[in-house]
Amino acid sequence: MSKYRVAFIGTGKPGNPGLKGYAMAYQHALGYKALADCEMAACADIVRENADAFAKQFGIKGVYTDYNEMLKKEKPDVVSIAVWPHLHAEMIIACCNAGVKAIHSEKPVATTWGDAKRCAAAAEKARVQLTFNHQRRFGRPFRLAKEKLREGAIGKLQRMEFGLGDIYDGGTHWVDMMNMFNDETPAEWVIGQIDTRQIRLAFGAPIEWQGIFHVMYKNGVQGVYFTGVETGRKLGFNTRLYGTEGIIELGWDALPGWIVRWLKYDKGTWTGDMANGESLHDPNFVERAIADTIESLRTGREPELSARRAMNATEIIFACYESSRRRARIDLPLTIEDSPIQSMMDKNEVKWEYAPNAK
Ligand SMILES: NC(=O)c1ccc[n+]([C@@H]2O[C@H](COP(=O)([O-])OP(=O)(O)OC[C@H]3O[C@@H](n4cnc5c(N)ncnc54)[C@H](O)[C@@H]3O)[C@@H](O)[C@H]2O)c1
Repeated sequence: MSKYRVAFIGTGKPGNPGLKGYAMAYQHALGYKALADCEMAACADIVRENADAFAKQFGIKGVYTDYNEMLKKEKPDVVSIAVWPHLHAEMIIACCNAGVKAIHSEKPVATTWGDAKRCAAAAEKARVQLTFNHQRRFGRPFRLAKEKLREGAIGKLQRMEFGLGDIYDGGTHWVDMMNMFNDETPAEWVIGQIDTRQIRLAFGAPIEWQGIFHVMYKNGVQGVYFTGVETGRKLGFNTRLYGTEGIIELGWDALPGWIVRWLKYDKGTWTGDMANGESLHDPNFVERAIADTIESLRTGREPELSARRAMNATEIIFACYESSRRRARIDLPLTIEDSPIQSMMDKNEVKWEYAPNAK
């Protein structure tokens, strides 16, 4: 079996978890390491010592500080991108132009809707498989909820709710998962409001202090999502799916791991499942995501984390911010190019800037 040559852009430096650097490339690398048909050939990081440490850990020979030079010299088949989101677009487009077969990029897709569209268009034009690391789709708690929906445990899905820190950074996982629960149905309109009283940056990108959003999907299912430091994560069961016959709840406050429980209105008692003790940050999910992207590259099927699906979520997220900027319901497709939250902050002269990415 021929092996895919894998390269990495942005290695990070482990040991500093938080919204300033998770060194996600290390989790990606564990995914490729587990696959017989992948060999990790090269890595690039603007901080040489980060690239050196990563190369040493995974036995990688090609080490670069300039990713364009790496693409030219190494001619990788697959590139994993794990830099902050304002850099995703330029790197994805460079990889498409360099003739790679597949790109697995970290989330969120980009910092503007225009950049997100450029990424998807470049991949489509160059016939490159583009995926985004919404790895929670591979987590047992979420899979279990999806299975229960499919089995008809709550009848027909009608409404989805979640509470979280923000709609853009953590929210990209959740909006994406709501799309998974709702069979990837695109949204028809979005209405919402955000508060930006205090700047928060997630991997260099601005996120709201607080927000509330209402999404109407094309199949009539509705989403009600609320976010914020003071609210979003203090909900107990943070995700709730309502159907014609019952409710499914998912929550991370139920130790030792996530719990999924469901109830039929006519029975009135909950059935719970600890989802094998799998939790929110189980790195295993990334390994499963990488395995799926490589398998889809080999077989030609749509990857679970396809750009098409990621763009569905990204359009809703930027529409949430756009609704707040325009004080109106946003009917999709979304026609803007910029980032509404950035422009609202600029207009209000809120001071923010991308923190230097290198540590
Ligand atoms: N999927 C998830 O659950 C999850 C979790 C955390 C972070 N993320 C995402 O992962 C991405 C990366 O975050 P991280 O925490 O791994 O970042 P990090 O800061 O740990 O690593 C980023 C690396 O990129 C390097 N870099 C910056 N500019 C570069 C350039 N021009 N060329 C090459 N290297 C460059 C930096 O030197 C740094 O080493 C972000 O988009 C973030 O949102 C995803």
